[in-house]
Amino acid sequence: MAAAHFQSTKTLLLWALSLLIAFSPLMRSSEACGVSVYWGQNLAQEGGLAELCETGYYSYVNLAYLSTFGCGRKLALNLTDHCDAASGGCKSLSTEIQACQNRGVKVLLSLGGNDTKYQQLCSAADARKVADDLYHTFLEGSNSDGPLGGVSLDGIDLDIEYPGSVNYWDYLVEALASYRSPQKEVYLSARASCSYPDKDIGKAIDTGLLDHVAVRFYEDNPRCDCAAGPYRLLDTWNTWSSSLPEGNKLFFSWSPNSPASQCALDVLINEILPAIKSSPNYGGVMVLNADSQVSTIHQAACDSNYTCGISVYWGQSLNGEGSLGELCETGYYNYVNLAFLSTFGCGRQLRLNLTDHCDADSGGCRSLSTEIKACQNRGVKVLLSLGGNDTKYQQLCSARDARNVADDLYNTFLKGSNSDGPLGDVSLDGIDLDIEYPGSVNYWDYLVEALASYRSPQKNVYLSASSSCSYPDKDLGKAIDTGLFDHVAVRFYDNNPQCDCSAGPTKILETWNKWSSSLPDGNHLFFGLLPDSNAGSQCKPQVFTTEILPVIRSSPNYGGVMLRAVYKDISTLYPAAAACSNEQSLISVS
Ligand SMILES: *[C@@H]1O[C@H](CO)[C@@H](O)[C@H](O)[C@H]1NC(C)=O
Ligand SMILES: *[C@@H]1O[C@H](CO)[C@@H](O)[C@H](O)[C@H]1NC(C)=O
Ligand SMILES: *[C@@H]1O[C@H](CO)[C@@H](O)[C@H](O)[C@H]1NC(C)=O
Ligand SMILES: *[C@@H]1O[C@H](CO)[C@@H](O)[C@H](O)[C@H]1NC(C)=O
Ligand SMILES: *[C@@H]1O[C@H](CO)[C@@H](O)[C@H](O)[C@H]1NC(C)=O
Repeated sequence: MAAAHFQSTKTLLLWALSLLIAFSPLMRSSEACGVSVYWGQNLAQEGGLAELCETGYYSYVNLAYLSTFGCGRKLALNLTDHCDAASGGCKSLSTEIQACQNRGVKVLLSLGGNDTKYQQLCSAADARKVADDLYHTFLEGSNSDGPLGGVSLDGIDLDIEYPGSVNYWDYLVEALASYRSPQKEVYLSARASCSYPDKDIGKAIDTGLLDHVAVRFYEDNPRCDCAAGPYRLLDTWNTWSSSLPEGNKLFFSWSPNSPASQCALDVLINEILPAIKSSPNYGGVMVLNADSQVSTIHQAACDSNYTCGISVYWGQSLNGEGSLGELCETGYYNYVNLAFLSTFGCGRQLRLNLTDHCDADSGGCRSLSTEIKACQNRGVKVLLSLGGNDTKYQQLCSARDARNVADDLYNTFLKGSNSDGPLGDVSLDGIDLDIEYPGSVNYWDYLVEALASYRSPQKNVYLSASSSCSYPDKDLGKAIDTGLFDHVAVRFYDNNPQCDCSAGPTKILETWNKWSSSLPDGNHLFFGLLPDSNAGSQCKPQVFTTEILPVIRSSPNYGGVMLRAVYKDISTLYPAAAACSNEQSLISVS
């Protein structure tokens, strides 16, 4: 592997700058796919809020509704028979709300409901006043006298259906978004009619400030009539998908109470979701109320066992990488490879080397388990990477040896019940192979097969590899051909004629295409970068962002970007790298 040292901060700044230029306007960090639900109107015996969140199926809960606001009215919450907000009876919900948030569920306050005459804004100034009141009462988190006690809700949802012909929702959204800060997210969503543009909140949507828009596909509206099949409705979805501002996500809104012309559940699952999931801005499904079918819907809406994103190596203290917890908190990494398990195979005892982060030999790395679990709770997959500098201690001696190593790895790092292990009782998400100098006869394919045999519905063993940019990789080629890797990251920073960028990116794109067309079905390809433009013949950052990334993203198996070291200005790279598909994969139905 090429030396992974940063030459200067100047190089870093150059990277930051060119990425910034390439991708502005920046999108806000994109959320993983999810199901959103309204809670509070007690439709269909929805049960308690904590119960709802405990199912694990919902990523967003909209408290329904803030039913009175605007034109000088006092904010009034109506959660029907759950509690009486007027007498302070809803404050006790704060515990349940916090429990939801601790599970990673975003809890939003939804403005809307039945009493539409009490839900108007009278002027731009009125909109700003309402935004201020909402922030201080529900979002800031310091108002224990508020209707929900001292909670700090994650954001605001607009479910506005019958406003006046002149409206100020765009002003409201702008004023709410102005409260966004690195400390406080202020997530914003809205429900729209299935006619594009929405006559009421169209202007608000056009601000581009809504994190997601859920289109009501259950209305009695010719644009979403499903009686003759889903064609009409997929057309409508496409219109929305191509018109939504960049970086905003689109949700398919469905009601379990099946109004007449809505598509049936099996049409949603079998015909609609498979089509709309390939839209680049697909975000998930919104259900109008809690529903017993949610596990089925959640699976069809979100289960791809796969997230496009950024993977990074952590542990070798390159580039002032900081702590693991900090790394995951940035929200920009989807996969972290703990680097490295540096000794294994041929009867050797497994040995972890995380350089100066901790001394594994004396048990000093067990305390990392808290940070690892925090990463996992954020949805980051944490893998153990086999490899590193001491290549002479990283060989497998036989097929049987490979199986023994797989068993040891599983029992020590993946199974999760071994508190005496080097990382305590963690249950890592999988194994990464970063093997560069093995012998000419090798057994990596046996190792991969044995690891994959531990996959079960209860435990997915994620497998990735880093490979040289020559296809096929002389070391891991056989292992890659098993098709058992979830992703393969090609090191485009090697000193190798196949990825020499000195004469432009042509050679690199040729190599990428070769890999892309040869990789087994269902496996994803990552572009491996050393965040250091002076490394060998690697492309300069600007070439990567303007000439390479836009092209490789359209490969059907594009999976993301692998960073060999922490990259300081990751926020600029993330939106482009984590987009799974580009405009070309928009479904077209005629
Ligand atoms: C091994 O470590 C040395 C010294 O830290 C470094 O110069 C070299 O690039 C490293 N090699 C690999 C393969 O990481
Ligand atoms: C709350 O909303 C429900 C359903 O829309 C309505 O029936 C009820 O009268 C409202 N309660 C108050 C106090 O306004
Ligand atoms: C308003 O409430 C009534 C009675 O509960 C219901 O039939 C109607 O569908 C509701 N309308 C809206 C817009 O929620
Ligand atoms: C996800 O993985 C599970 C277990 O490996 C598998 O049964 C399921 O079919 C996968 N789902 C998709 C959409 O690939
Ligand atoms: C851990 O790895 C580093 C970097 O490759 C190396 O310098 C160091 O000697 C290793 N530590 C042990 C205990 O092997």
